[in-house]
Amino acid sequence: MKQTDNRSTMVLVVLSAAFCVLIAAFTFEWWGVPKPLPPIPLVDPKFLETKTWRQSYADLISLEEDVDHFDCYICHEEDKKSVLKFDANHRVIIPEEHEDIVMGHGTHGRNNDCFNCHNDKNLLLLQARGIESLKMENSTPLCGSCHGPTLRDWEAGSHGRTSGYWDRSKGPYKKQDCVNCHDPHSPGFPGRRPAPAPNHLRHVSAPSAAQPSTQH
Ligand code: HEC
Ligand code: HEC
Ligand code: HEC
Ligand code: HEC
Repeated sequence: MKQTDNRSTMVLVVLSAAFCVLIAAFTFEWWGVPKPLPPIPLVDPKFLETKTWRQSYADLISLEEDVDHFDCYICHEEDKKSVLKFDANHRVIIPEEHEDIVMGHGTHGRNNDCFNCHNDKNLLLLQARGIESLKMENSTPLCGSCHGPTLRDWEAGSHGRTSGYWDRSKGPYKKQDCVNCHDPHSPGFPGRRPAPAPNHLRHVSAPSAAQPSTQH
């Protein structure tokens, strides 16, 4: 009987001592301080951007930004008829003053002729099939005059985008115009990097924002 008592006392003493050592070890961090995990990078804010790809003339007017380059008659003469020049392959020669314009509308530049869209009698206006004088800020009917099916998709809401508020009491909504996304001169889109997958909170060395990850 006595012997078992002694033995359990021994065990308890040893256990207590072991726990004391553990307490000291944890308190004074004898195993060293673990390195802090590197911070998980936040999603690149450009993926959360809700602005459209480009600003149209209508946007620039409403934001009261510089629209000098839309004031054609700063340089052109009003009573002089504009005549296009073509190279040997029947491609429009873009004058030096307009070298920022890169034409590439359609495969083989099918729709590169300036006066398919701009009014040759009044450069401040656009012209479309059946609509001779269309204001520059109202270009969607111009695009629609050649892209009928896309215009109908756009009107039905399955092409393009509506921005603003679902709840009309909170604010207005706006159907984005074709030129909010498409550059009228080169309307195709360059490829874009897809948005990143959801963050799984485990640290993996973060792919840099500039180059796509090689992990799949
Ligand atoms: C900074 C001056 C400048 C402004 C602003 C400008 N242009 Fe021009 N543009 C020129 C010059 C210079 C030429 C070449 C004229 C030539 O070769 O006879 C030209 C040529 C053109 C041509 C080719 C046909 C032609 O007349 O030679 C078109 C089309 C044209 N411009 C449209 C426009 C439109 C539309 C606007 C306004 C939205 C505009 N330009 C604003 C300077 C300008
Ligand atoms: C005069 C007719 C005409 C007008 C106006 C017109 N387009 Fe086009 N568009 C074309 C043709 C033709 C093609 C080439 C189709 C093809 O190659 O199969 C094209 C192609 C396109 C493409 C496909 C990408 C590409 O370059 O092949 C887009 C996007 C586009 N247009 C957008 C627009 C937008 C936005 C507007 C208004 C600013 C517009 N278009 C106005 C005739 C027009
Ligand atoms: C498919 C129709 C289309 C064709 C073809 C086209 N334009 Fe335009 N262009 C537009 C529209 C629409 C705008 C106004 C876009 C906006 O609201 O941002 C514009 C804007 C411009 C502007 C003022 C803004 C800027 O980008 O500098 C100039 C200058 C211009 N066009 C010149 C030309 C010339 C020169 C050509 C021929 C080489 C040409 N465009 C061919 C539709 C066209
Ligand atoms: C919110 C942006 C946005 C708006 C607004 C928009 N588009 Fe597009 N559109 C796109 C994108 C993105 C594509 C796919 C481009 C690609 O795959 O290269 C596209 C493709 C197209 C094509 C290529 C043919 C096709 O169906 O694949 C045409 C033509 C076109 N759009 C015309 C228009 C016209 C006309 C309007 C206005 C009535 C318009 N878009 C408004 C973003 C837009």
